[in-house]
Amino acid sequence: MSNVMGKSVNRQEGRAKVTGSATYAAEHQISGLVYGALITATVAKGRIKTLHLQEAQASPGVLHIATAENIPPLSPVANDWATSQIYESRLPLADQEIHYPGQIIGLVVADTPERARHAATLVQVEYETDTPLINPKSALFITAPRTPGLEQGDTAKSLETAECQISATYTTAMELHAMMEPHAIIAHWQDNNLTVYEPSQWVALHQQTYATLFGIPPEQVRVVTPYIGGAFGAKAFPWPHGILCTAVAREIQRPLKLVLPRQQMTMIVGNRSATEQHLKIGATADGQLLAIEHHAKSQTSPVNPTFAENCIAVTPVMYATPNLSLKQEIAILNVGMPTYMRGPGETPGMFALESAMDELAWTLGIDPVELRLKNATPVHQRSQLPFSAKHFADCLQVGAEQFGWKDRPQQPRSLTRDGKFVGWGMAAATFPGLRFMASATVRLFPDSTVQVLTSANDVGTGAYTVIAISAAETLNLPVENIRVEIGDSRLPNGGLAGGSMMTATLAPAVVNVCEELLKQVNANTTTEALQALQESGQPFLEATGSSQPGTESREWAFQSWGAHFCEVEVDEPLGRVQVKRWVSVMDIGRVINAKAAASQIRGAVIMGIGDALMEECQLDPHLGLPIVYDLATYHIPVHADIPRIQVSFVGEPDRNFNPVGARGCGEIGITGVAAAIANGIYHATGKRLRDLPMTPDQLLGM
Ligand code: MOS
Repeated sequence: MSNVMGKSVNRQEGRAKVTGSATYAAEHQISGLVYGALITATVAKGRIKTLHLQEAQASPGVLHIATAENIPPLSPVANDWATSQIYESRLPLADQEIHYPGQIIGLVVADTPERARHAATLVQVEYETDTPLINPKSALFITAPRTPGLEQGDTAKSLETAECQISATYTTAMELHAMMEPHAIIAHWQDNNLTVYEPSQWVALHQQTYATLFGIPPEQVRVVTPYIGGAFGAKAFPWPHGILCTAVAREIQRPLKLVLPRQQMTMIVGNRSATEQHLKIGATADGQLLAIEHHAKSQTSPVNPTFAENCIAVTPVMYATPNLSLKQEIAILNVGMPTYMRGPGETPGMFALESAMDELAWTLGIDPVELRLKNATPVHQRSQLPFSAKHFADCLQVGAEQFGWKDRPQQPRSLTRDGKFVGWGMAAATFPGLRFMASATVRLFPDSTVQVLTSANDVGTGAYTVIAISAAETLNLPVENIRVEIGDSRLPNGGLAGGSMMTATLAPAVVNVCEELLKQVNANTTTEALQALQESGQPFLEATGSSQPGTESREWAFQSWGAHFCEVEVDEPLGRVQVKRWVSVMDIGRVINAKAAASQIRGAVIMGIGDALMEECQLDPHLGLPIVYDLATYHIPVHADIPRIQVSFVGEPDRNFNPVGARGCGEIGITGVAAAIANGIYHATGKRLRDLPMTPDQLLGM
């Protein structure tokens, strides 16, 4: 019996956001605030010979300039996800070396943001420059040390003897997270206590990391992040600008605010690495897969020399084959650091794999939906564990039905409308089901309202509402009765908003604690608990507890599934592609909030359309600096680029995964989107595009 779970519930924080009363990091009002501006390197590799600061120091309003010469020492962090984690393993201003263009080389503090920014432009830098490595074509690629490959069977031989073989290379461009809320921080020291107002996907670890860096106990660090304007993987850990801002605030004993301009956000707060993927698939004439070879390359930066865009993660998950050869290689270039970005690995990986599957389907003359149904695997081919509550086939069949796939004309270039070619494409989607530990406190008040407290945060995904729904469902109360307080490290550890795991992590924790609260007063219902509360004379009943994974992942592989179907229109003389129609069907276990879950998928499909057709951060080949510098030069979709996106869910609660049965939802929506569009473009035009983004020049040049 479900009261509210699975229904469509409006966002708890929606009104605050649209009326402007939601307070983002840079908007907190602190008296005595001063402002920072970064000085960044204009060369890609070398070292600073001389920094001429005199003019900047004499500039009106300047209070302090931090450089490698005067930065107080910071304590090293373990970088282990358990105690402390930062993105760049090199601490800010650690020495005079330059590893990538845009690297922070100083921070100017002034009494207004404008004066700080102006003074930063007055700093003259003399460099000793080395030849940077910018172009991956000249780079040495090595096996990614933290991203294991896989060799099963004899892939080379199987490919050679297969009746049908596909071999193709796919590339994807460097991308930026380009979230609405810029990276920003206010660091406020009072004696030896630090308050940090900074967007964070992982409040508890953020707190611990600052504590480690500044050599103080975690109780003396408070991270406040009630609202976050998008993160996509780039706000999980402290970046150098945040660490530096906090160090300088301590040094000058003033609350210090630093907001990154868009141009700096293209350089120093992460990107998605460009990739190059070589895919080979061998199959029988009737479409049984025999072998897949997937060799992928990505790039990283000297400040994080092991990071890989793990494209091959999806390959052992999707299709059964006795022979598998997976390899992930990286090259270390003098570029800004790549990091996790929505569907890290899965997004480019599924572009290549799902494009190759489409190429195979055309070669064999088999319907691409049939080809996928035929080859879906019941077990994860790395662990050999069975997938729990897998309903991939339903995604494909329901999606095909909703879209009208069976009416698809069999030949490319056979559908036209208003002088444009029309094409239909489809692709699968997938993302692992991940879960972590979370704690929460729940309070029940005499007026039957409830307060839920946890440090978890809402990056725009709907965590506030998931928490409210979980409490309302368990206590059988209207969702309006639940007040949710999150995004503050003083609250119980709410875990990480990343890997699409917050719902699967938090919902079981909140349910647990609500049940515990009833149990504490021997109540079977909330009404009984309220009676007990009245008798006790206490102001409220309170329970605190947590929930975490057990041993279930020794028996099961947890994975979410989906299918995208789209219609594209191609204006061939202009090379212009427009997406006209979209159907996504997802199996994410139990849906907690139907409205928010569909919105998550819709947002991810929109981001996928950007990934497919627009997004690229090209670098100047000599300087290595991004040639995009704001949200006008970095192209992302606008309303006119987006069709109606029809989203539905199939499947069942995955109770092997957690008691609530939710696998979470967010990143899966972007996976497969670019392939569905590329496959649609092929159907429309007979042209196979294998390089993202698929810009008009590619269609004109063929
Ligand atoms: Mo997401 S890339 O797991 O924050």
